[in-house]
Amino acid sequence: MAGLLAPAVTEFAIEVTRGLTKPGQKLLSPRYFYDDLGSALFEAITFLPEYGLTRADERLLKAYSGAIAERAGKVRIIAELGSGSGRKTGSLLAAIEDRDTATYYPIDVSPSALSACAKQLQELVRVQPVCSDWMDGLASITRTREPGQRMLLLFLGSSIGNIERTKVARFLSQLRRQLVPGDYFLLGADLVQDVDVMLAAYNDPTGVTAAFNLNLLGRINRELGGEFNLRLFQHEARWNPDTRAIEMHLVSSSKQDVYIGGLERAVHFEVGESIWTEASHKFLPDELDRFASESGFTPVQRWVDAEWPFAEALWEVRDTAS
Ligand code: AVI
Repeated sequence: MAGLLAPAVTEFAIEVTRGLTKPGQKLLSPRYFYDDLGSALFEAITFLPEYGLTRADERLLKAYSGAIAERAGKVRIIAELGSGSGRKTGSLLAAIEDRDTATYYPIDVSPSALSACAKQLQELVRVQPVCSDWMDGLASITRTREPGQRMLLLFLGSSIGNIERTKVARFLSQLRRQLVPGDYFLLGADLVQDVDVMLAAYNDPTGVTAAFNLNLLGRINRELGGEFNLRLFQHEARWNPDTRAIEMHLVSSSKQDVYIGGLERAVHFEVGESIWTEASHKFLPDELDRFASESGFTPVQRWVDAEWPFAEALWEVRDTAS
């Protein structure tokens, strides 16, 4: 059966098998949240009153676009990792010097998010959507760029928080190797704050985050012939003080065996057993500067929102990659 599946689905099948048959804590990677339905649900999350981080990101970009654009100068390529609908990015693109000669490359795994993004931003700048995961998408842009074309790379919305903290410096070093001296990197990162406020952001009373989380099981049903009864799993958000992360889980409310046709196997769940689906790490301001130096960037400036502790950090590429 697995041999008949399309390549991207096969990768999903492999990850689901690995994560759900792992001894101890079952796991699913958050990268699979973002099919078309998941991307639309995430977009809805960004409007929730409890989820203040996207609005903080937007406020900072609106307030400091001029300063960022002035510092970055004549940028020819603006690439954004995980652009989503690109709603946050408009004010920055509008501030770019000579933007009629620049191209904006939103990189995202969701075709529907990319087309919403292109529709929203194409009046401001030439938009060239890249439907890919972050690193491959960025590599495809850097492969074709001409010498002297300066790049501003954007990684907004605290997507950095979805990477394990111990792997962040390695990930940033990989990005750094795709860049050349004169390039800039703008990183949006959500900061540690009151635990109840952070928990509410991932456990909204409207149930949108629960739907976003449960859609992962829905996706397994749709794409891998799973037989998950979504009503038998509960969304849960937990604060882990050791890793400084909000962790999302799907908790089985009964003892059950769930058959997944595409994997030709059943997965057993005990009552209260969970699938860990996401960690959203929160940062300390100084930690960002440390990440910059560990990965070969030079911090230029950092802005923090006054209403919601969220930081925008602008880094420069100064030396050649080691
Ligand atoms: C995309 N990412 C930064 C979001 C976050 O806050 O970790 C995804 C999300 N998960 C639940 N709500 C939003």
